[in-house]
Order: sequence, then structure tokens, then C-alpha cells
Amino acid sequence: MMRIGIDDISLYVPGFFLPLATLAKVHNIDPNKYLLGIGQEKMAVPPPDEDIVSMAANAAKPLLTPLVMESISTVILATESGVDQSKSAGLFIHGILNLRANCRVIEFKQACYGATAGLQMACALVNQRPNERILVIASDISCYQPNTDAECTEGAGAIAMIVSQSPRILNIHPYQGRYSFDVMDFWRPNQHKMAFVDGKLSIEMYLESLKQTWQNYRLDGGLPLSSLRHLCFHLPFTKMAQKAFSIFEAIEPKAAKDIGPQSYTTSQIYGRDIGNCYTASLYIALLSLLENSTEDLSEQNIGLFSYGSGCVGEFFSASVVKGYNTHLRKTEHHRLLQSRHELNYEQYLVWFYQDIDPQIGSYELPQLTCGRYRFNGSKNHCRQYENSQQSQKGN
Ligand code: HMG
Repeated sequence: MMRIGIDDISLYVPGFFLPLATLAKVHNIDPNKYLLGIGQEKMAVPPPDEDIVSMAANAAKPLLTPLVMESISTVILATESGVDQSKSAGLFIHGILNLRANCRVIEFKQACYGATAGLQMACALVNQRPNERILVIASDISCYQPNTDAECTEGAGAIAMIVSQSPRILNIHPYQGRYSFDVMDFWRPNQHKMAFVDGKLSIEMYLESLKQTWQNYRLDGGLPLSSLRHLCFHLPFTKMAQKAFSIFEAIEPKAAKDIGPQSYTTSQIYGRDIGNCYTASLYIALLSLLENSTEDLSEQNIGLFSYGSGCVGEFFSASVVKGYNTHLRKTEHHRLLQSRHELNYEQYLVWFYQDIDPQIGSYELPQLTCGRYRFNGSKNHCRQYENSQQSQKGN
């Protein structure tokens, strides 16, 4: 059987963060609630000249070798922070990155689950046309009302992946456990920038979906828990992995005891310093495991759980390809995370919550981003993007 999966993967996060200890001080609560109770240390904060398009372009750029550029047949952009009701955000990226015209570009939405739908569709497309590659990007900004219990779970970032046959990093297995249920646990009506959320219900639905998808995954021929040495969960905040694992402790006690909490702790490292990136969060957890594990993961199996409120869940699995380590961008990603600038609460408030009046069609934004591609502003309601490295050189 043809092996299909993730051939290359890249992370982008904005160059600024707010420490959760700062937020706790403003909220006048014990910082350990956020640091330990929620499991978050920093939230990534985009300046006004970054959006899901510029973050996605910055994540995808390192993957685009001439060979890859020639063979991308489809761009799938998953987001729930869309910038247009009609045009796919992927088309801006297609333009910015000069991708070939013989290509289809689409946007997927189902809360945080969208990127998993994209990944599964990419695998099916490669199965049909094995010489083509698919660019799957997950890019999001997680934003709630200030001074609410949810604010501590905000974040921003993007993951870009190349899906191909004979992948160099991860073979995706064919077994799938899915679960859909119509529920209002988290939603964002069109006219609202910030999400509405019923926090406790959302956690309940996440855990119920995990239970149901696990059962369906096993019925589909999926591997027993004892064969999955590592688990990556959708991480809206890193404590969620502990809650998810407790489901396995209840329904698969012996196997859960054998694989233990070390099955998920390495996958929490990046998320703890970034925050919720909705569609990208599960894949940030996967990258965290691959790039921070001290053991060689070659040929080991990983269980992955994707959850998108509303709700759709999916449990699937994958195995790590021998030699995967040499194809990761660990040094670049660690540098990206370590070189970020700390913000104070006032600066974060201005950047995160100040909005431009939607009636204003033309405006320019000052350059604040540390990234290569940036959101420049708008001309007659058309969003403008630029490669800031080129414009600095006067090109
Ligand atoms: P809350 O009500 O402020 O939290 O909201 P809490 O009172 O339940 O406390 C949280 C934890 O901190 C508890 O531990 C406390 O004991 C502990 P737990 O019982 O959970 O193990 N704690 C402390 N620990 C140490 N020292 C202390 C201390 N004080 C308390 N001093 C909530 C938490 C997550 C509900 C809120 O932040 C929220 O609404 N977040 C947004 C929604 C969310 O993230 N839901 C997750 C599941 S749904 C999902 O993942 C989908 C999503 O990504 C959206 C999408 O799909 O698009 C959100």
C-alpha cells in the first residue's frame, strides 16, 4: 500500500507575547491558576500588521523548494479567523508565494477541526494522483472578550505542511474515528470578532468527542492504545491533555498506566508558550513532540485527537518515518520562539482589541511585525500584503 502523509512541516508565530503572570496580576488572581491550573505560560500576540494570511505565508515559505512549487496541485487553508466571507484566504497566499496557476485553492472551516479535514482530504487527493503534493495550512488567532475566564487561553500562530506520497516525516494511517454533534459550546457569529464560549460545556463536549472517536477509531481497525506510545491532543490550553488522558485512564486503565503521562507531556511544550491557535493547535502539539523528544521516535506510532467546537472530533493515528529528525526545522523554530518580545498588558490590549471601522475602505498599517510577509492595510476594501524584506531592499 502506498504510504502517504506529512513530508515537511513548518511553524510560524508572531514575534510578541504576553506573559500569563502579567494577565493574572491584571485579573487579580493567583498566577498559578494560569501557569498550573490552565497550563499556560505565554500567549502569542500578533501586531496589527499580521493576520491569518501573513502568518500562513510566513509558515509556508520555508517549505517551498522549486520541486515542491512545481508539484503543488492544491492549497487547503484551514481557519476560523477568516478575513473574507467569499474569497478563500488561501488565494492571497497563492499570490504572495507565487504558486503555480495550475492549482486549486480552498478554505476549510469547522472550528479547530478544519486542518484535520484538510489533512485527510490531502491524503485522499495524493492517493488519487500520487505525483502531486498538497499544501495544508492551519492559521488562527484565538480571541475572547477581555476580562473573561477564556482570555487566558488566547494565542496566535500557523502551521504549514506538505502532504505527499513516501513522506519523510509522518505516515498517516488509514483508520479514522469520527464524531459530529450539533451543540453551542463555542461559536462566533459573522459580525463578531470575539468568540462566544460556554467553557465548561466545551470541555465536556471535547471529552465526550474523544470517547466517541476513540471507539469509532477502534471499530475502524485502529491500533490498541498499548501500540500508541505517544498521544497528541488538540490543545486549547495544555492542561487539556491531562483531562483527555484521564478518559483513557477510565476506559483503558491498563494501557494508559503502561504508556503513562509521558505519552503526552512533550507535545505540550510549544503550546504552553504560544496559546490556543485553534486549527493549528493539534499540529503544534505534534511538532512539539517531534522536535522536543529526547528519544528517537522513528517507527513509533502516535495517536492524534482533533476537536472543533460545534462540534466535530476525529481520532486518527500515524507512524514516524525513520530519519524524520533530519527533515525538521527545530533550530529555526526554537529561535523563533526564543527571540520574541514581551508586551505589557496595555500594549496587548491595543493590538488585540483595537479595530478599524469596517466602513473605512482604505488605510495603511505601520510596520511592526518581525515576520517576512505582512498585512499592509486596505485599498478600497481590498486587503494588501507585502514581502517586507523585498520592500526594505526597494524591490
Ligand atoms: P475557569 O472557570 O476560569 O477555570 O475557566 P476553573 O475555575 O475551572 O480553573 C481551571 C483550573 O485551574 C482548575 O483545574 C482549577 O482547579 C485550577 P481543573 O479542575 O480543570 O483540573 N486552579 C488552580 N490551580 C493552581 N493554583 C491555583 C488555581 N486556581 C484554580 N491557584 C476555562 C477555564 C478553560 C473553562 C476557560 O478558560 C475557557 O472558557 N476557555 C475557552 C474555552 C476552552 O478552551 N475550551 C476547551 C475545550 S473546547 C476546545 O478545545 C475548542 C476550542 O479550541 C475552540 C474551537 O474548536 O474552535 C476552544
